[in-house]
Amino acid sequence: MLYYSDYLALDSILGAQHLESAKHGTPAHEEMLFIITHQTFELWFKQVLFEVDSVITLLDRPYVPESDLAVCLSRIQRVNRIMEHLAQQFTLIETMTPGEFMEFRAFLNPASGFQSVQWRVLERTLGLPETKRVMRHYTEPFTPEQLKQLDDASNRTTLFAAVQRWLEQIPFMEHGSYAFWDAYKTSVRNMLDNDRAELRRLSEAEHTDPTMSLEQIDANERGFLALFDADQYAELQSQGTRRMSQRATLATLFISTYRDRPLLQIPYRFVDAIIELDRLVSLWRYRHTMMVSRMIGMRVGTGGSSGHDYLMQTTVRQRVFDDLTSLSSYLVPPQHTPELPAEIEARLQFVNEARNG
Ligand code: HEM
Repeated sequence: MLYYSDYLALDSILGAQHLESAKHGTPAHEEMLFIITHQTFELWFKQVLFEVDSVITLLDRPYVPESDLAVCLSRIQRVNRIMEHLAQQFTLIETMTPGEFMEFRAFLNPASGFQSVQWRVLERTLGLPETKRVMRHYTEPFTPEQLKQLDDASNRTTLFAAVQRWLEQIPFMEHGSYAFWDAYKTSVRNMLDNDRAELRRLSEAEHTDPTMSLEQIDANERGFLALFDADQYAELQSQGTRRMSQRATLATLFISTYRDRPLLQIPYRFVDAIIELDRLVSLWRYRHTMMVSRMIGMRVGTGGSSGHDYLMQTTVRQRVFDDLTSLSSYLVPPQHTPELPAEIEARLQFVNEARNG
């Protein structure tokens, strides 16, 4: 007979809250909330890893059928809802005042979220490169088993690599002599020229200096043109400005531009969900940072980092999929979007064709 509490191992879970303050003879009421909040976060991290691992397995193949991509999409959307929920969940721990936290903080040294193995595994699984890390010495207090878990995560295919592999398989970008990318480049140039003209018109009317904004447009144009030149692209990669392969980047631009075509709708929603995931991980970092600054101000963390400054930097610098996010700068409005050759248009409508056939 299977009973509720056995199935859920409630004896273990509900018996796992041990207050350090009580052990020191000064029980602090809020420490229960502190422990339970961390434990629930860790449980949700487990679910997130479970989902992301399954998505990597589905994507990391020479061919990803549409039905599997739809499964990947729904799982990443689930992960996104969990991350959103976790960012929101900081409001619970914020019901504890900084003073109440001080009643037991000293007993926690040197324990810190720094040592959350699942968080580190998640960062690696998503594909955060070592070069982007703000700080690396947190590996010191890990046990050999935990270090092995981290090594395993580093040696597996990451979500970044799996998404890149899938994007590289997207067909339709070369078609006979049709110079799609030339047409696209012209469209973007026209769009940027319009932006320049509009900027000059406005600054003349308002007597402002357009130099800085014009320089920004020039920089955008250079960045855009570099996407099409293998050497310049390699240069961007060596500078760390771009990590994703040129082919995967152009595929993303193609999917985003023609996102309303039936065949590209799920790919587009999937890319969008990945961008959303990156944003929500940063949101988690940001919400955690804000909560930390309220709790401990500018004090250093129990894990030995500078605390607030370190956490703020991770929020800004440790984005995994900024290659995808940054492509929004080069999206063209519908009136500037180049037309596709009829044959490609027809193939992108394949859902209807199959139904009619
Ligand atoms: C009063 C509540 C909290 C405070 C004051 C706090 C403080 C800190 C500080 C200062 C750090 C930087 C590392 C260090 O030097 O210790 C950190 C890192 C971290 N904390 Fe918290 N934290 C709190 C709650 C939480 C909760 C509820 C979680 C949920 C699991 C969490 C997870 C993490 C993680 C994963 C890191 C590593 C972040 C990174 O290095 O990217 N923290 N925390």
